[in-house]
Amino acid sequence: MTKFKKAADFFGSLRWRLILLFLLIGIIPSVLSRAGMLGSYENRAVFIRTSEILSQAKILANQIVSSDYLNSGQTVGEVDVQIEQLSTIYDGRVMIIDDSFHIVRDTYALDNGKTIISEEVMKSFGGEEITKYDAKNRYIEMTLPLIETEEDTGEKYIIGVMMVSVSTDSINLNLEYLSTSTAVIMLTCIFIIGTIAYFVASWLVRPLHKLSRSIEEVQTGYGEDALAVDDYTETKEICEKFNGMIGRMKVLDDSRQEFVSNVSHELKTPLTSMKVLADSINSMENAPVELYQEFMADIGNEVERETKIINDLLSLVKMDKSAADLNISQVNINELVETILKRLKPIAERQKVELVLESFRPVTADVDEVKITLAFTNLIENAIKYNKEDGWVHVSLNADHQYFYLKVEDSGMGIPEDSLEHIFERFYRVDKSHSREIGGTGLGLAITRNAILMHRGAIKVFSTEGEGTIFNVRIPLNYIS
Ligand SMILES: Nc1ncnc2c1ncn2[C@@H]1O[C@H](COP(=O)(O)OP(=O)(O)O)[C@@H](O)[C@H]1O
Ligand SMILES: [Mg+2]
Repeated sequence: MTKFKKAADFFGSLRWRLILLFLLIGIIPSVLSRAGMLGSYENRAVFIRTSEILSQAKILANQIVSSDYLNSGQTVGEVDVQIEQLSTIYDGRVMIIDDSFHIVRDTYALDNGKTIISEEVMKSFGGEEITKYDAKNRYIEMTLPLIETEEDTGEKYIIGVMMVSVSTDSINLNLEYLSTSTAVIMLTCIFIIGTIAYFVASWLVRPLHKLSRSIEEVQTGYGEDALAVDDYTETKEICEKFNGMIGRMKVLDDSRQEFVSNVSHELKTPLTSMKVLADSINSMENAPVELYQEFMADIGNEVERETKIINDLLSLVKMDKSAADLNISQVNINELVETILKRLKPIAERQKVELVLESFRPVTADVDEVKITLAFTNLIENAIKYNKEDGWVHVSLNADHQYFYLKVEDSGMGIPEDSLEHIFERFYRVDKSHSREIGGTGLGLAITRNAILMHRGAIKVFSTEGEGTIFNVRIPLNYIS
């Protein structure tokens, strides 16, 4: 076995599929829960950080407004320090923008004095408080208006905007740490699940291996004759079916063996006779020519008999093949039966048997002409041969819309009841010596029955000993493949 085939066998095996199934069942939930966990951790952390900074920023915004920070030209040191603190604590940048969009304070000291007109800033001048999380660049940005309330009138003015942007690096750091550690846990889980899956799958498929081993043992002839793997209902069922099949094969094998031994016996009988005839004439000194002629005639008869057996065997073997070997054509059955009767007439006359045909209607059917002729000839020939002197044979042909019926009735010796179920068997003869005397091989009815069954027809026999026999044949008009 090549390496490639081995691998293909493994990946095609039930065991591998089970392992895959277990892994999928085990891994999908953990992958999903890991992704969900990481995602919700990030949301939660950003939310907490945002609200924390927002509240600090609001306090600071109030202080900026109340201390008049924007107008006093950065002289309020106390507020300035707090702005600086917010920036350092949260690792962020704070920018204060006045009503003419000038940056009056930038903790990064990069844009002091510059003008800023961004979307967020404009919105905040409209009174909006904006929070934005940029996951890709890892920062949270907040823009909130600085609102002054007129003491006397209670009117509110927006005198500036405060922008706070803080890095979320610490959150991402945690996130990375969590991600790695859960990945490690997951891989460990996969490994453990995989190992367990391997053993469980091996355990589950073991009965199947056992089954295949047992079949092999039965096949090679070691081990028990019958399979018994009762581990699963399914294997039990397979065993029962298999044992049934083996039983059938045994029956077939027995019948084949019996057939072969019958054939050998039948073929040997004429040969033995010929040997005896030849030996006896040879052992005689100065045997007269007449005796030679007589013996040679006997030997000729035996050769004829041998030929007949072989011909019948060949017919039978042909009929044993599948129905696909049928050579179906439209045949006029009336004509077919008439031809058979004409051919058998000389034999009937010799036996002083009256042969009568009764056709009820014209019949044409889809049949294999050769095989049906053989079948009907055998039936009618039997009716003539196993008859008595001055007896009769009635053949009648009838049909309905589906079948045609052939009935062969005779006034002969009949068939004993206990033989009726055997007459269709190969080589079975009620009276061996009588049958051989009139040239029977015991194969005729077996051939007949096979030919009829190939046409999906049926044959039945009724007989009373000493009175006569009736064979009824029914064959479909249209061949059903
Ligand atoms: N019409 C019949 N009347 C009496 N016996 C019959 C008839 N047909 C068949 N049998 C019996 O059935 C046996 C089997 O018939 P068959 O298979 O044709 O073999 P055989 O070569 O002996 O004719 C015959 O040997 C005979 O004993
Ligand atoms: Mg016969």
